[in-house]
Amino acid sequence: MEKYAIVGGTPLTGQVEIGGAKNAALAILAAAVMTDDPVTIENVPDVRDTRVLMQAMESIGIKIEHIDRHTVKMDSSKVSDCVIDDEYMKKIRASYYMIGALLGKYKRAEVPLPGGCNIGIRAIDQHLKGFRALGAEVRIEHGSIVATATDLRGNHIFMDKVSVGATINVMMAASMAAGKTIIENAAKEPHVVDLANFLNSMGANIKGAGTDVIRIKGVEKLHGSNYAIIPDQIEAGTFMMAAAATKGDVVVKNVIPKHLECITAKLQEIGCLVEEYDDAVRIKCDKTLANTQVKTLPYPGFPTDMQPQMTVLLGTAQGTSIVTESIFDNRFKYVDELARMGANIKVEGNTAIISGVDKYSGASITAPDLRAGAALVIAALVADGESVVDDITYIERGYEDFDQKLAGLGANIVRVASERELKMSRLKLVE
Ligand code: UD1
Repeated sequence: MEKYAIVGGTPLTGQVEIGGAKNAALAILAAAVMTDDPVTIENVPDVRDTRVLMQAMESIGIKIEHIDRHTVKMDSSKVSDCVIDDEYMKKIRASYYMIGALLGKYKRAEVPLPGGCNIGIRAIDQHLKGFRALGAEVRIEHGSIVATATDLRGNHIFMDKVSVGATINVMMAASMAAGKTIIENAAKEPHVVDLANFLNSMGANIKGAGTDVIRIKGVEKLHGSNYAIIPDQIEAGTFMMAAAATKGDVVVKNVIPKHLECITAKLQEIGCLVEEYDDAVRIKCDKTLANTQVKTLPYPGFPTDMQPQMTVLLGTAQGTSIVTESIFDNRFKYVDELARMGANIKVEGNTAIISGVDKYSGASITAPDLRAGAALVIAALVADGESVVDDITYIERGYEDFDQKLAGLGANIVRVASERELKMSRLKLVE
């Protein structure tokens, strides 16, 4: 199993380039099925989740040409089937975006229930409620969601919970439903806006994305488009935290600073210098950080996908910090691993009470999910001595060339595929 071997203690310095947003890419790739015309999508991150989704799309007849590592040209004119195979879909949660896309275009979709990171109960009732409100019949059969409709009709939908996935899924289906749809209590995340912009570039009529009321006038047909995905807010935030945790000085390039504001504000509050430029942020940190309180919230609040990285950072800050997870109910599993590195964190329900320690010490740890995996890598970069982070396939679901980007900033990190390689890497790392 692939691992990262890391020798900690080096402050990260230099510049790092952020890729396209994984979560926007998953929605936009799925939405590309909604036109028979060719669609070119740029800035697609080359990560496992996007690769698996594209394989699944190819399996139903969508032609995907890889123009370069981050640009794909998609031709969905010959979709053979609206049934997605379990083989791909167990691996990625965003599989369910194919329901909104296929239902909107073909009025039929059969997609296995989603897999993905294990961070708590992840209900999909709001997705199903939205599809039903648009006139679809939705059943769960043999582990799959089967949605069919004779016609989709716009409706006024009030989401009981702010859900990124449900907002995206319903927005896709509604963009090809007859008449007007209003989604109230919609998610406002940057990737919701990016998907709306992409659908509009294909001829959809969506207004209000980025606010909590989205208004959609359904259109009969969507056309081809050439679209570039926004930078990844969470990848950028992860490098910001890594810079701060290692007391480094890093320019994080190709970002939209507005999307990072709540992360920037927290870093400034605890004593980091953060400078914003047009499309970059610089993080400089040379002292022990102060304690704080953080609560995860839907955008523009502090993202749940940055919670583990923030907890790792606060683990070596002064005094006691409190991190409250309000989006998912089981997102502190990594704390046990962090304890093996000397962290002093007590979890009570959805709250982590963090007593800052002077430093972490290197250990063998396992990534329990995507973002927690990245957070453990940050802990290893700070720690004394060597750490081995196992199960990095989780991390590679969402971070492209994570080890190489960190190494470019001076980190002592190598990716190894076997115990033998691990032994060799030890020699390399201590050189
Ligand atoms: C998306 C992101 C994920 C991020 C999360 C929250 C993608 C591919 N994934 O996940 O990285 O952590 O947003 O920002 O974009 N809920 C319900 N019923 C529903 C749907 C959701 O109760 O029908 C609950 C969930 O259990 C969770 C909360 O709402 O507690 C938020 O979930 P949601 O925003 O839907 O997250 P995802 O779209 O799955």
